[in-house]
This record gives sequence, C-alpha cells and structure tokens, in this order.
Amino acid sequence: MSIVEQLRSDRNLALEQGDPTATVCYLATVGPDLKPSVRTLVLRQIDDFSLRLFINASSPKWHALTTHPQAQVLLWYPSIQVQYRIAGEAVQASREDIENNWHRRPLRAKLLDYFYAHQAAQSTPFRNQSDFDEAFDHFTQSLNTDQLSPPSEAIAIDLHYTEIERLDLTQDERPHQRTRFQRVENRWQADILVP
Ligand SMILES: Cc1cc2nc3c(=O)[nH]c(=O)nc-3n(C[C@H](O)[C@H](O)[C@H](O)COP(=O)(O)O)c2cc1C
Repeated sequence: MSIVEQLRSDRNLALEQGDPTATVCYLATVGPDLKPSVRTLVLRQIDDFSLRLFINASSPKWHALTTHPQAQVLLWYPSIQVQYRIAGEAVQASREDIENNWHRRPLRAKLLDYFYAHQAAQSTPFRNQSDFDEAFDHFTQSLNTDQLSPPSEAIAIDLHYTEIERLDLTQDERPHQRTRFQRVENRWQADILVP
C-alpha cells in the first residue's frame, strides 16, 4: 500500500470509529511578519498529490500563504493513535472547482462568505458580539438565499504535498514507529526516523 493509500485508509478507519478529528486538519502557515499561525480547517479531499481546503481570501491565512506558500497540515486520529504531518506548497484551486463545490457548504458558511465580501473581512475586529450579530442578521436578511453564488473571495486551496510523516503510537511496550516519505518525482522515498 502506498503512503497516500495508507493515509486515506487511516482516515476512513478514523471516520468509521467516529473520531471527531477525522473530518478536519490543522493548517500551519508563516505570516508576512514570519510569525507562525495554526488553525482547524475541514479537510475536503485527499488527492494523490494534493489536499483540498476551503478558505476565504479575506483571511490572514490567505495573506500568509500568498507571501509564504509553504505550509504544513497536521492530522491526529486518536481512535487509531496515528499522527500525520504533511508539508508542501499551497496553490489556489481553479474557479471552476469552487463553483462546483461551494453550493454544498452549509448556509451559514455561504452567508459568512458574503459578509466578508461586503461588510468586514474575516478575522478583523468588530465592536462587540451583539453589534456583530445584529450586523450579520441585518445584512443576511437582504440576501435571497436561494440565489447565492460564490463571491470571488470564497476560494479553495490545494496543498501540493512533497513530504508526509506518519507516526504510529500503537506499539505496546516498544517505541513508536515513525516514517518520513519524501516525494521524488512521482514516487515516495521512505526513511525511518527515530521516534
Ligand atoms: C471544526 C472547525 C472547522 C473549521 N473549518 C474551517 C474551514 O473549512 N475553512 C475556514 O476557512 N475556516 C474553518 N474554521 C475556522 C478556522 O479555524 C479559523 O478560525 C478561521 O478560518 C480564521 O482563520 P485565520 O484568522 O487564521 O485566517 C474551522 C474551525 C473549526 C473549529
């Protein structure tokens, strides 16, 4: 089994076991000021050489990725005691990919994409919680929710990964097993690492 097949298989196992972390990942970026930043995102898709994430282009994470496209994604599946660290370069997905997928997002997420586009960028300070709630309700009442289409700020990114590290904690009394896979052209070169 290739490492990518192993990754998909581990994630499916974690999903089957009801692991609450099985649907998400943690994306670490480096900002223009060189400060690190990490956040939870839904992991939409695992392709052979890339991971698909949905974000908003008004956000600090996109600002970070446009200046430093190298990023790392962490996965942790407690039910099977496996961690992955996946590193590579983030690239904006095509508009067509957004058009085809954005409609499947929950209504709340779609309304927020409109809010970011017309009222306030994601992650910017707002006066207080009740002002925000009022502004959001007032703004979204003016929208026809049956006719929403993705604003240009609603984007998808593909993390084109070139390194995958798998850490398996299941060995009973033995040290954990840790393997790093580096992409060399279209194959994966494996190295065992001291855990
Ligand atoms: C379970 C969970 C899933 C999330 N999924 C997404 C997501 O798919 N896309 C997204 O942009 N933010 C998602 N978020 C919110 C982000 O973690 C983050 O707060 C937001 O994107 C702002 O990030 P930034 O300020 O680093 O740009 C999710 C948060 C949680 C807790």
